[in-house]
Amino acid sequence: MSELSRREILRLAAALGISPALLGLLGCDDSDDVDAPPDGGGMGGMGGGGDMGPEADMGPEADMGPPDDGFPRYTYEGEPGPETLFTHGVASGDPLTDRVILWSHVEGVTEATEVFWEISEDRDFAVRRNVGTFTTNADRDYTVKVDALELSPGTTYFYRFHALGRTSPVGRTRTAPEGAVDRLRFAVVSCSSYAHGWFHTYRELATQPDLDAVLHLGDYIYEYGDGEYGNVRPYDPPHEIITLEDYRRRYRHYRKDPWLQAVHVQHPFICIWDDHESANDSWRGGAQNHNAGEGPWMERRAAAEQAYLEWIPIRESADGRIWRTMRYGDLVDLVMLDSRLWGRDEQTTRDHYADPDRTLLGLDQEAWLNDELADSQAKWRLLGQQVMMGHLRFQASPNLPLNPVNGDQWDGYDASRQRLFQMVRDNDVQNLVVLTGDIHTSWAMELTEDPNDPQLYDPMSGDGALAVEFVATSVTSPGLPAVQPALIDLVLQSNPHIKWTDVEKKGWVLLDVTPERVQGAWYHFDRIDVADPQVPFVAKVFEVYDGAPRLFEVEAVADARPDAPPLA
Ligand SMILES: [Fe+2]
Repeated sequence: MSELSRREILRLAAALGISPALLGLLGCDDSDDVDAPPDGGGMGGMGGGGDMGPEADMGPEADMGPPDDGFPRYTYEGEPGPETLFTHGVASGDPLTDRVILWSHVEGVTEATEVFWEISEDRDFAVRRNVGTFTTNADRDYTVKVDALELSPGTTYFYRFHALGRTSPVGRTRTAPEGAVDRLRFAVVSCSSYAHGWFHTYRELATQPDLDAVLHLGDYIYEYGDGEYGNVRPYDPPHEIITLEDYRRRYRHYRKDPWLQAVHVQHPFICIWDDHESANDSWRGGAQNHNAGEGPWMERRAAAEQAYLEWIPIRESADGRIWRTMRYGDLVDLVMLDSRLWGRDEQTTRDHYADPDRTLLGLDQEAWLNDELADSQAKWRLLGQQVMMGHLRFQASPNLPLNPVNGDQWDGYDASRQRLFQMVRDNDVQNLVVLTGDIHTSWAMELTEDPNDPQLYDPMSGDGALAVEFVATSVTSPGLPAVQPALIDLVLQSNPHIKWTDVEKKGWVLLDVTPERVQGAWYHFDRIDVADPQVPFVAKVFEVYDGAPRLFEVEAVADARPDAPPLA
């Protein structure tokens, strides 16, 4: 090849719909240079399990010809591995414009195992965009995680894995777009307590082809044993999880769930952990559901974090920090926080909530967030994080005090929250939408320093609001179904910035983003304690418009995207 490499010609041909065979007829099938593997299409610095890298020898199992798309094809001649080798499915996550994390697991092996991966724009893997190998082993619980590089922006891909003569299910994923973007759709989910029911939300999202990604805001697993929190479905292991092996077993158990597998097959996930990936109401130095008899907290926390990083398709940093930003062209900067384990001080009593020395994020994460907000150039900033940011206070009657009700959320770290609001003011941050899980109930609210101070905020006009917050309900974890409507009315009277709540139903929030507005639609199910497929309904829809941080209820949900690529 003279000017263009064979690989570049093949890509061009793929884009034009010309088959590799026809290229051969045109004299472009120069097999002398096909052995060059792609540049950098490997594990991108992933730790653990042995980085074979794209330049690594593919081994005798990998057939280097005949050439078709310029990449080696997987072949295998030994004894096949167990039929259940890929029983935990596939997943993808953390899409950037040119790369995405691909994940799988090999089950039933006891030795280091080489896994071959491939990613393609066509479901038949005729013209692939990248391939590579990754060797996994017991040190990483036989999980496979690669950063598939050299992809195109805003593109849907199919991917799969091969090992020991077995092939995984085909997964589908999508890179982030770049440049001018006119529309994005994300599903926002959290809190899937296996013991409380069936994952109808995951099942439903697996049927929707037009999502750019699923944002999982934490409590992907729960740490409890059987009967400790829910009793609809039994856990494995049946006891509370404490050790590294316990946490790994719990992820293995979750990933056997067919509806959780199905949603991972169809969409990339962007995940952060909340408390139950370690233990209830965790903070950096402990947890409500951890006692001295269960060993040192820091050992348990390290085990929980290790298993999470092994089993969740998240791009890993060297020191375990999960706060990060993903950019979706000029439309959205998606900033994901860790308000749980990184820097959080211990929960305290009400008279210390406003202590200026307390932090929810840690001062380093706060400084990073300030820079992210100051530098962000996108039309919208979506701030994905764990616990409710808006005030939730209760006043039983006008002559009684107005008190916060939950010290585990930002109310219990008011100085940290005020510093965040100051960042918004100092940097003149516009179009900020906070996305929240954790609380197992649905809420829509406007955010300001003190929503009960008429000098600061007018709940009728929205004057004084700095941002809005959409709180997604849980997939299954219980809310407050027994709360009387009269009590809900009192809560809304105490909190004029809260425009709506539902404290019972399970489901998700569908986020539809255009340059003009962000729409949040709360989809709910009547029941999740039965396995029979349930039909979701729209419980409420709110929109926030460009340049005005306040909420408007609307009737109609945005239409599905007509041009969505087919499901896997
Ligand atoms: Fe939860």
